[in-house]
Amino acid sequence: MADLIFADAELAALYDGMNPGRDDVDFYMPMVMAAGSVLDVGCGTGAMLHDARKAGHRGRLCGLDPAPGMLAQARRRTDIEWVLGDLSSASWTAEFDLVVMTGHAFQVFIEDEELRGALAAIRTALSEHGRFAFETRNPLVRAWETWDSEERPAADGPDGAKVRMSRQVTATFDGRVVSFTHTFRSEAWEAPRVSHSTLRFLGKAELEAALAEAGLAVEAQFGDWDRSPLADTSPEIITIARPA
Ligand SMILES: C[S@@+](CC[C@H](N)C(=O)[O-])C[C@H]1O[C@@H](n2cnc3c(N)ncnc32)[C@H](O)[C@@H]1O
Repeated sequence: MADLIFADAELAALYDGMNPGRDDVDFYMPMVMAAGSVLDVGCGTGAMLHDARKAGHRGRLCGLDPAPGMLAQARRRTDIEWVLGDLSSASWTAEFDLVVMTGHAFQVFIEDEELRGALAAIRTALSEHGRFAFETRNPLVRAWETWDSEERPAADGPDGAKVRMSRQVTATFDGRVVSFTHTFRSEAWEAPRVSHSTLRFLGKAELEAALAEAGLAVEAQFGDWDRSPLADTSPEIITIARPA
């Protein structure tokens, strides 16, 4: 499993400020609002489920995440179910009309066995007419090649000083995964804080094979948040799957 970025509560409190303007959340939100019961796997700070409740969602909203810092942020709203953990400890059966993974959380499933287990648990958690909606970055466009120079907005740290985050790739794509660090810097800190991550990049064919093995069929696929069709040059592989 990838390291738990933002497991630390102080860093988790900065996450939403560093990730403004969420096209992925805008894309998934109508599906969330239309579903009677929603499981957000790798929910992070829970911002999407918070927004759904604020927007009047009256059904079951459940967020799952193994990072205590992230879940501490999520738990600021108490009218949503929050579960600390991952899908290996989940035992939901036919309970959710929508299982969703945002913010490329799907890419945390590194090993084949982990991916297989996660997809099987998602399939089991879905109701008969349920949907699994998620995205993974298209490996063909090699997004990691520009990560080192990417600028993110600074966020206000707990001491009032700005915190900046940068990303450095430490092991480039080997046909399966990319490893990198997030470095957080603040003038108020003696030293930067560094978090190590590895993400898997599955191509379209591998992804569809893994879904099929879990008993999931692709219902729709898009290459970007504007719902453009998936092409080799698309940044994202956005998939909506249903029980086969
Ligand atoms: C990039 S964040 C995305 C968070 C949130 N979905 C969003 O869109 O803001 C990835 C999240 O996946 C969580 N995560 C890491 N390993 C996981 C696993 N095995 N199962 C579920 N979530 C995991 C992390 O703790 C983190 O909160």
